[in-house]
Amino acid sequence: MALFVLAILLAVPLGLDLYMPVPEGNPLTFEKIELGRRLFHDRRLSRDRSIACASCHKPDRAFSDGHPVAIGVARRLGRRSAPPLINRGYGRAFFWDGRAASLEEQVLQPIQDRNEMDMTLPEVSARVGLSPEEISRALASYVRSILSGNSRFDRFVNGDRLALSPEQRAGLQIFRGKGNCTACHVGPNFTDERFHNTGVAWRDGRLHDEGRSAVTGKVEDRGAFKTPTLREIARTSPYMHDGSLVTLDEVIDYYNRGANLSPGLDPELRPLRLTTAERQALAAFLQSLNGTVSDGRR
Ligand code: HEC
Ligand code: HEC
Repeated sequence: MALFVLAILLAVPLGLDLYMPVPEGNPLTFEKIELGRRLFHDRRLSRDRSIACASCHKPDRAFSDGHPVAIGVARRLGRRSAPPLINRGYGRAFFWDGRAASLEEQVLQPIQDRNEMDMTLPEVSARVGLSPEEISRALASYVRSILSGNSRFDRFVNGDRLALSPEQRAGLQIFRGKGNCTACHVGPNFTDERFHNTGVAWRDGRLHDEGRSAVTGKVEDRGAFKTPTLREIARTSPYMHDGSLVTLDEVIDYYNRGANLSPGLDPELRPLRLTTAERQALAAFLQSLNGTVSDGRR
C-alpha cells in the first residue's frame, strides 16, 4: 500500500487530514478519476442500457438511492440496500458482509450481478472499448475520490464551539456515553470497519440474511454486518442492510429498546432507557454529520 499525494490533496479541503491507502498497482490520477466518473454514469454497463452505477448510487443522496433494496435491470430486486459511497477509500472490506477485499475487486461485481447490471466482463469491455482491468482501476479511483467532510461536527471538533447547538452537544454526549454508539461507530468515519450482529436480520425468531457468516462460515457471524459510516446519515434513508428502518427516530428507538433479541446479539447492545429529550438530542446530533460531499472535481 502506498500513501498517495493526490488522495491528501482531495481530502484536506474537507478537513479529512487522514492518509488514504491506495494500492501500488493503481495510483490515483485525475485522468483515471475522470474516466471512472464517466463510467459511473454510463448506462452501457447494464444489459438493457437502463442502469448506471449512479442509478443506485445517486450523487445528491450521498451516493445511496432511497430504496429499501436495490432495483436493477428489468426492475429486478436485490436483497440489500445500496449503501452511501462516501469515504470508502478509507474502508478495509466492501459490501455489507465485507466479501470484497478491495475496491478494484468490488466495482466489477455489480456489473456481473444478475439483479443489478447483468453483464459479462467481455461484453462490457467490447461496449466501452476498455479492458476489465482499466474499467476496474478507473471505477475504483473514482470511488476513492468521493469524500464527505466539513460537517458541523467536524467544525466543532476543530475548535468552533458554536458549530453545534446545545441540543446537538447534548446528543454528542449521549452518542459517546449513555447511548454507547461509539462502541462501534468510532473514528473519523464513525465506523470500526468490523462486523456486528445488531439483530436487524433477525425477525420473528428467524434469520433473514446470513450476513458475514456467508463469507467466514462462522456461527458467531450469523446476521453480522459491517458497521456503516454515519456521515451524511440524514440524507441516506432508509436505513440498515435491508432498508427496514425509515427514519433516524426509528433507528434510535430500535437501539433504545435494545435491538431485536437474537442468538449472538452483540454484547454492546442493551436497552438504553433514553428519555424523549435524550432521543431527540441524539437525532439532532446525527443531523450535524451532514457536510460537503465532493467527487474529485477540481
Ligand atoms: C442495482 C443497484 C446497484 C448498481 C447498479 C450498483 N450498485 Fe453498488 N451497491 C448496491 C448494493 C445493493 C450494494 C450492497 C450489496 C451488498 O452488500 O451485498 C452496493 C455496494 C457497493 C459498494 C460497497 C460499498 C461499501 O461500503 O461496502 C461500492 C463501492 C459500490 N457498490 C460501487 C458501485 C459501482 C462502481 C457500480 C457500477 C459499476 C455500482 N456500485 C452499481 C447497488 C448497486
Ligand atoms: C455493536 C455495534 C454497534 C453499536 C453499539 C451501534 N451500532 Fe449502529 N450500526 C451497527 C451496524 C453493524 C449497523 C448495520 C446493521 C445492519 O444493517 O443490519 C448499524 C447501523 C446504524 C445506522 C444505519 C446506517 C445506514 O447507513 O443504514 C445508524 C443510523 C446507526 N447504526 C446509528 C447508531 C446509533 C445512534 C447508535 C447508538 C445509540 C448505534 N448505532 C450503536 C453497529 C452498531
